[in-house]
Amino acid sequence: MKHRIAIFASGGGSNAAKIMEYFQQNENAKVSLVLTNKDGAGVIDKAGEFQVPCEVFNREELQNGSVRKRLLDAGIGVVVLAGFLWKMPEDIVAAYRGQILNIHPALLPKYGGKGMYGMNVHQAVKDAGEAYTGMTIHLVDEKYDNGAKLFQARVKVASDDTPEMIAEKVLALEHKFYPRLIEAVCKQL
Ligand code: GRF
Repeated sequence: MKHRIAIFASGGGSNAAKIMEYFQQNENAKVSLVLTNKDGAGVIDKAGEFQVPCEVFNREELQNGSVRKRLLDAGIGVVVLAGFLWKMPEDIVAAYRGQILNIHPALLPKYGGKGMYGMNVHQAVKDAGEAYTGMTIHLVDEKYDNGAKLFQARVKVASDDTPEMIAEKVLALEHKFYPRLIEAVCKQL
């Protein structure tokens, strides 16, 4: 059975693009829908490039059940968060328990939780003088960055790396591993 994936993204969507590319011709899954909370987000053009329908929703639609209904109506089986900055409401978590994935640009539980996104994460890694950082792919539950970890990959931080250089190394890991992990989860469903 071919699973239908929905991607939620708030920003540029480089991970979303890698995922759409990976699943263009895949026997296990396809990306059927991209959802964003941000007008003008880069991910909207990326979805267009891959001819995947993309819709913008607001906070009320996320909270009042409209977004959950949209996912169910579209037959979505797997929800992928790729740089999505709002918290998933409990109705979606409940409807898709074990089927919502998130990627975090650090080795959770380090550098997770509220406020730990984007360059804040890499700056904190730099300030702490960490020798390694990396990325974590995990299931989503009711708490930020809390669900079961599925996969982590790490990369060395050089003492003279800037936060921007750290971000670049981590993003490369994300692009490499996120599509494969999503496929592995789809195969198990
Ligand atoms: C990634 O670093 C991801 O780990 C985090 O948000 C960033 C999204 O980047 N959750 P992009 O929009 O996919 O380029």
